Amino acid sequence: MAVHTAARDRAPDDVITTTALVKTYRQGTAEVRALDEVSVGVRRARFTAVVGPSGSGKSTLMHCAAGLDTVTSGSIVLDGTEITGLSDRQLTRMRRKRIGFVFQSFNLLPQLTAYENIVLPVTMSGGRPDRDLVDHLCEVLGIAHRVSHRPAELSGGQQQRVAVARALVARPAVVFADEPTGNLDSRAGAEVLTVLRRSVDELGQTVVMVTHDPAAARYADRVLTLADGRVVEDEHTTPSVRAAAPGRRR
Ligand SMILES: Nc1ncnc2c1ncn2[C@@H]1O[C@H](COP(=O)(O)OP(=O)(O)O)[C@@H](O)[C@H]1O
Ligand SMILES: [Mg+2]
Repeated sequence: MAVHTAARDRAPDDVITTTALVKTYRQGTAEVRALDEVSVGVRRARFTAVVGPSGSGKSTLMHCAAGLDTVTSGSIVLDGTEITGLSDRQLTRMRRKRIGFVFQSFNLLPQLTAYENIVLPVTMSGGRPDRDLVDHLCEVLGIAHRVSHRPAELSGGQQQRVAVARALVARPAVVFADEPTGNLDSRAGAEVLTVLRRSVDELGQTVVMVTHDPAAARYADRVLTLADGRVVEDEHTTPSVRAAAPGRRR
């Protein structure tokens, strides 16, 4: 049974609104409905986790919402812009300006220092990095003392925190993280989840994280559960519940 989050859970300050989002894939002669009328709003400056079994549509939802994949039908409004009709070029520009990504496999450039990796999204689009912002980010993320090192000299947890800083540096409307702790041991994973949490609490960042790990989802304000391409549970957690969650450190 799908949970209809339509009117009551959507608000004008939602940074993402999907309406009746459908995505089908062709697999041979069969058609797979990866997203089946997903209508959901994501509130600004909140930490939303998307969970569900393998094949439930988590990655498809993230890819569509981030403009990395086209939709079959329905609407996605991202930061005030309807993105389903945009051209590839417009989508690329939209992603560069409004979205930060954190991947399971860090994706840092090995020949650059941590600092150079962090400012890359800004320098690549011809901008000048805001030194105070970068310093502040590194302070909040606990990597200030490591910025002149190359990725190979950093632990996995530090590398992923550099990737989080890189995702935050252009002040995106949304940071999407796809299994950001998937390649980390539980301690390093907790560090990364803690910095994602702090980016929401201290910087007002909006974070959407796809994870199959229930412990990771406990860091979020809200947990959307997908099954067979539908939202089957939409759970808002309160700060006290989060604080009581095991393994959570602030
Ligand atoms: N590129 C693709 N081509 C065909 N089918 C796909 C493709 N991507 C995903 N699917 C199918 O869509 C469904 C949802 O996949 P996905 O979004 O990757 O799920 P999850 O991330 O929750 O594991 C699955 O049935 C998967 O096999
Ligand atoms: Mg996936």
